[in-house]
Amino acid sequence: MAALLVTNIGQLVTWDDEQPIRETAALVVDGGRITWVGSSSVTPLADERLDVGGATVVPGFVDSHTHLVFGGDRSEEFEARLAGKPYAAGGIRNTVAATRALPTPQLRLRATRLAAEALRSGTTTLEIKSGYGLTVEDELRSLEVAATLTPHRTFLGAHVVPEGTDASSYVDLVRGPMLDAVAGVATAIDAFCEDGAFDEDQCRAVLTAGAGRGLAMHLHANQLRPGPGVQLAASLGALSADHCTHVTDEDVTALRDAAVVAVLVPAAEFSTRSAYAPARRLLDAGVTVALATDCNPGTSFTTSMSFVIALACRELGMAPLDALRAATVGGAAALAQRDVGHLRVGARADFVVLDAPSYVHLAYRPGVDLVRHVVRAGEVVR
Ligand code: NIG
Ligand code: FE
Repeated sequence: MAALLVTNIGQLVTWDDEQPIRETAALVVDGGRITWVGSSSVTPLADERLDVGGATVVPGFVDSHTHLVFGGDRSEEFEARLAGKPYAAGGIRNTVAATRALPTPQLRLRATRLAAEALRSGTTTLEIKSGYGLTVEDELRSLEVAATLTPHRTFLGAHVVPEGTDASSYVDLVRGPMLDAVAGVATAIDAFCEDGAFDEDQCRAVLTAGAGRGLAMHLHANQLRPGPGVQLAASLGALSADHCTHVTDEDVTALRDAAVVAVLVPAAEFSTRSAYAPARRLLDAGVTVALATDCNPGTSFTTSMSFVIALACRELGMAPLDALRAATVGGAAALAQRDVGHLRVGARADFVVLDAPSYVHLAYRPGVDLVRHVVRAGEVVR
């Protein structure tokens, strides 16, 4: 692969310790990696040159929490919510039925379209969960679809108890035969710790079984009300506790002390018309925060990290710089992938060229497609 010089960058966000943001900058990409970062007045040797005319360059977004393998949609449920009906975990079963009914080629096509939509909007690293199959075959099928799209594949067999079974036999299935079937395809395990889904002991049993098979742990925690999820994630040493909408001061301290990433998903709160997560309390306490879309048909049908950033600034009280950090290097921490989410020398060359004079415009111009180019592993994909 020939070396590419990207020059005339008006503002470059690298997250370098000394100089996280540079003005009038340039960078060189070689072999899919960043090999040089400096001033655009210097001209290092390169085979090709891309002049971005003063545009802003930020690291590609890292969306560390999505559920984008599913059939059907739940627009009627959304519409009912707008008329005042509250969200409940049980709606997941409608998507389970629609997902099981969909032949694999269609399931793959739909997920592929959503992943392409995410990439076009600047998401260069994507996590995908299963959780709408809930049988051995259907969970495996979902994870095999995810495997065609991303290296970050999370087994969420413990999403809800499917119809026709009881919680305790279903948990035995999830941590037994289902885990056996998916352990070679999944890279992580997750569970939905919530009234109406799984309790603390059930989630612990599922996550420890997954960890025993070498899977990283995530947990849907404290989404709909306060509960034991965050503390459980911390005690198990999970990579992340996701949602964290209803957290006590003890929960916040536990996240910080156990270095568990709080993955916040404000688009879910937007769509379910719920209170937003206390991002400021988490940040002020020193917790690592990530922002993700939670893309799924029930609570958050969006792939747009720009939208999530705008919400985080307006509704979670995050400064634009904090929000961009959470949407890039924060997401990378939630996935334990250290070579993405930043643009220091050695990073994977994943970045977004924005038609804007500064990264602030991501929140300042909500709903506007500012993405001019997306580069993934050194390849211009948009
Ligand atoms: O992250 N909370 C659990 N899972 C999804 C919602 C799933 C659904 O309603 O289909 C979430 O919000
Ligand atoms: Fe989720």
